[in-house]
Amino acid sequence: MVKKWGRKFLWAAGTVMLLVPVGAFALNNGYARTPPMGFSTWNYFGCNGINEANVMAVAQSMVQIHAPNWEGKQISLQSVGYKFINLDDCWPATSRLADSAPTWNTTKFSHGFPWLTDTIHKMGLKIGIYSCCGTATCAGYIGSYGYEKKDALTYVQWGFDYLKEDWCNVPSQYNNAAGSATLYSRMGHALAHADSIYYLDSLKADSNWTTAKADSMRKVHGITFSLCNWGGSLTPWLYGDTCGNLWRTTGDINASWSSIYGNWTTTIALYSYAGPGGWNDPDMLEIGNGSLTNTVNQSHMDLWCICAAPLLMGNNTPAMSAATFTILSNREVIAVDQDSLGLQGHKARTTGNIQVIVKPLLVHNPDTVNNKKFAVVILNASTSAAAAGSIKWSDLGITDTSKQFRVRNLWLHRWLKSRSIIDTATPPDTMETVSESLYVASIPLEGTVHVLMEMGNPDSIPVTSVRPEDYERVAAQLGNRMTIRGNEVFIPVGLSKLQVFDMKGREIASVSASQPGWYSFSGRGVVHGGTYLIRLNTPAGAISRVVAFVK
Ligand code: GLA
Repeated sequence: MVKKWGRKFLWAAGTVMLLVPVGAFALNNGYARTPPMGFSTWNYFGCNGINEANVMAVAQSMVQIHAPNWEGKQISLQSVGYKFINLDDCWPATSRLADSAPTWNTTKFSHGFPWLTDTIHKMGLKIGIYSCCGTATCAGYIGSYGYEKKDALTYVQWGFDYLKEDWCNVPSQYNNAAGSATLYSRMGHALAHADSIYYLDSLKADSNWTTAKADSMRKVHGITFSLCNWGGSLTPWLYGDTCGNLWRTTGDINASWSSIYGNWTTTIALYSYAGPGGWNDPDMLEIGNGSLTNTVNQSHMDLWCICAAPLLMGNNTPAMSAATFTILSNREVIAVDQDSLGLQGHKARTTGNIQVIVKPLLVHNPDTVNNKKFAVVILNASTSAAAAGSIKWSDLGITDTSKQFRVRNLWLHRWLKSRSIIDTATPPDTMETVSESLYVASIPLEGTVHVLMEMGNPDSIPVTSVRPEDYERVAAQLGNRMTIRGNEVFIPVGLSKLQVFDMKGREIASVSASQPGWYSFSGRGVVHGGTYLIRLNTPAGAISRVVAFVK
């Protein structure tokens, strides 16, 4: 974590207050504040199966309501967070139009892309497209090299919300880390530029333009940008967030345990580079594909979620089994992936085949000594035998073993009663404290156990209303770590940075403080009424609050 903050922040020593955007050189386009979720055509449909009928069938499967889940809730893939439907390779016609614009294969997409994006949007979903940094895509279709501006503008005009840009057939002088950063920046800038051209054109065309329309327009348009150069010596994690929102860290995944485990192992080690707006991408999900067992499908989900990885389904969702749906739609595990603190999990310990992976989660209550929340996965990486595993205090970085945790098994959906994590005899929803290290008698080979561990009252004050005249009372409520009065916030720790996010997760203001004191966020679009997430990043960790400002 320390490494991450060190990279992301420019400390302004000696300056009382300085505004520094998150990652001063980052793209910071406001998208992917949590890892993107959706579907991609590649893993199951490949080159031959990409067409309008299959894409629409996937869209239907995403909004389809299923039988009540373990909570008694009727959910769909859409309602648990999956929203993008991403077209991968093989959508284009064989050549560009006379004006050099790309165009789709009319046999595969008979109604055309404007119709398709509009239809998908009307279903409440979003839609992505695919291109390549080189002269041709990996399957040999038109690439964007030399056509970045044209392509970006066309994708925006067609109504796409997401672009994955691949790395085949790249001119050799760019086939290195610096060249890759150059080509991805070129497209990243082209997308941002295209977005603003489109925005301004719409503004000019509408004489009844209002701020409300402008805001809703901004919500609709804008492209999440996915880099796909497969990691390795191209090191996209070092510059990915200056150009885009996520970057592939490995070669292509396939539906086997060795591939899933290999991609994940490379990616989990890169934890310090991930954060809101810029994510490591170990590739699309294979859950439900090939002959993967239920154990491996579940491990795949656990490993991606503890890694804060993008969750892009790659199976035949219109025909998936109930077991596959249950795994893909586990809201408790998805919440680990989507946690808005945005820290990727890291390997805390490896003991033989047992690996313990820890992901600190957002704590609303600012008492950082007593209130903590972690997701923890115990993995048995053995391919031949079940094994026992445990979570130790030291895995969590906790030296005071008198502390007590509540522990919840995220697949059994219950708080645990005894120190054994697999305790099927435990009645649901009893919250018992556990004070010893946790022990699991048997984890299947290639299997995982996923738990939530809570200490103290991490979520006890979810929303606080602040009026300028009663800040003393609020100050007392919030504790001495994050105190707000009217338009000002008290930053109690030096070398800290305060960020303000709207409830869509977009950062709308930030203040860096070299020393403790009161800082104002007026004049930066905040505190005109409304609810915001305020996060204070200190060298010792982050604390967050949801605050409703009253006009
Ligand atoms: C590359 C990418 C894959 C997929 C194919 C399409 O291999 O890594 O994810 O997009 O190209 O041709």
